[in-house]
Amino acid sequence: MTDHPDRPDERGDSLLAGAHSRRSFLKGMGLAAGATAVLPAAVAAQPDERPAAPEIPGVRVLGRAARPITLRVNGQERTVTVEPRTSLLDALRGPLDLTGAKEVCDRGTCGCCTVLLDGKAVVACLMLAMDAVGHEIVTIEGVADDPRYAKLIDAYCENDAAQCGYCIPGFVMSSAALLAKTPNPSPEQVKAGLAGNLCRCGTYTKIFDAVAAAAAKGGVA
Ligand code: FES
Ligand code: FES
Repeated sequence: MTDHPDRPDERGDSLLAGAHSRRSFLKGMGLAAGATAVLPAAVAAQPDERPAAPEIPGVRVLGRAARPITLRVNGQERTVTVEPRTSLLDALRGPLDLTGAKEVCDRGTCGCCTVLLDGKAVVACLMLAMDAVGHEIVTIEGVADDPRYAKLIDAYCENDAAQCGYCIPGFVMSSAALLAKTPNPSPEQVKAGLAGNLCRCGTYTKIFDAVAAAAAKGGVA
C-alpha cells in the first residue's frame, strides 16, 4: 500500500459548466498475499478441498481458498469472497462493481486507483482486500454522493480539469484528502498533495487550479 500525504466512462458534455451533474461527471471519469499475511478477525473460514499449503514455522498461512470478508465501503457493509491475493482495487472493481477507481499501472505508480482509507489517500492496487477489513473505505462513487465534496467536484468541472478524464477520479480523491487535512493549501502543497497522481494528458495546471478554487470556496468541509 502506498500512502501519499494528502491525496468516471463518459466525458464531454457532462464537463461543461452548467450542463454537468457531479454524478455523471465522476461516473464518466471513470472506478501472495503471501503466505505471511495476517488473517483479519472478520475473515471467516470457508471449506477448501484443495490440499493445505505446507506449514512454515512461525508463519500463519492464509491461502489458498477464497474467503468471505466484509468491507465497509462508502458507508455500507459489503461482503465479498476474495482470495488472499486479491487487491482492494480488484475487489472494488470486480465483485463490488465500483469501477470509478481506475486500473492503469497496477503497481502503485499512477494514482488512478486512489481511494480513501480512514480519510487517507491510498492506491488500491497495492493493498490487499483482506487488509482493508475494519477500515473505512471511500471511493469516488462515495464522494460523488456526498455533498461535502460538491464544491471540489464543481471546481473540477468549472476549471475544465479533465481532458480524457481517465486520471480524474484518482486526482479528485487525492484532492479530497489534501483539502481535508490542509483546507487552504499553498500551490506547493497542492503539487505535493497530488504528487502521487499522473495525468497522461498533462492537464496538471487546470487540476491545480481546480483544487485552489475548491479551497477558496470552502474546500470539503
Ligand atoms: S493503478 Fe494503482 S497506482 Fe496505477
Ligand atoms: S485527463 Fe487524460 S489522463 Fe488525465
